[in-house]
Amino acid sequence: MKIFMFAASLRKDSFNKQLINLVASIVKDLGREVDLAQFNEFELPLYNADIQNTQGFPAAVTQFIDRMHNADGLIISTPEYNFSIPGTLKNLIDWVSRVTPMPWQRQRVLLCSASPSLVGGNRSLWATRIPLESCGSLVYPDMFSLATAHEAFDANGGLKNQQLQQRLADLVNDYLHMIEKLNR
Ligand SMILES: Cc1cc2nc3c(=O)[nH]c(=O)nc-3n(C[C@H](O)[C@H](O)[C@H](O)COP(=O)(O)O)c2cc1C
Repeated sequence: MKIFMFAASLRKDSFNKQLINLVASIVKDLGREVDLAQFNEFELPLYNADIQNTQGFPAAVTQFIDRMHNADGLIISTPEYNFSIPGTLKNLIDWVSRVTPMPWQRQRVLLCSASPSLVGGNRSLWATRIPLESCGSLVYPDMFSLATAHEAFDANGGLKNQQLQQRLADLVNDYLHMIEKLNR
C-alpha cells in the first residue's frame, strides 16, 4: 500500500512540512510505502478556463493526478489562512477537478493542519473538506490539528507531547486500516 502526501505550504520552514514529515515516518514505521511530494512541484497559474481551453492543462495538473492515482490514499497537512483553506491549495483542487473523469472521485483523504495558534489550523480542515467531498473524495471523519506548532516539535522531528504523538499515530493507523478494508 502506498500513501501520497504533501504539506500545502511553500514556506521553507513550514510547520505543516514538519508535520507531514512526521506523518510520513509514522506511515513508514507502520510498514506502508510513502510518496512525499513538495507543494512547489505543483505550482500552478490561477485557474483560468481560457488557459485550459487554449493550452490544455498545465503539466503539474496531470503529474499530480498520476501520483494521486498511483497511491491508495492521500494525506494533506494544510495551514489555515484567515480561518479557511489557503488559496494555493484550493487552486490546485480546482485545476484537478476540471479533468474528466473527476480525479478526486473515491480518493481516500486524511487531513491534518499545523499552526502557531491555539486552534492549530482546525478551521482550514473543515473548509478543505467542502471542495474535496463535493468532488467525491472520501475524507476520513477524524482529523489532526497541531496547535502551538512553533514549539511542538522535538529535535528529532517528533512531538514533545507524547500523548499527542500517540493520538497522531493512532489516527494514521486507523486511516490506513480503513483503506485496507476499502481495498478488499
Ligand atoms: C494570509 C495568512 C493568513 C493566516 N491566517 C491564519 C488563521 O486564520 N489562523 C491561524 O491559525 N493562522 C493563520 N496564519 C498564520 C499561519 O498559521 C502561519 O503562518 C503558519 O506558519 C503557516 O503554515 P506553515 O508554517 O506550514 O507555512 C495566517 C498566515 C497567513 C500568511
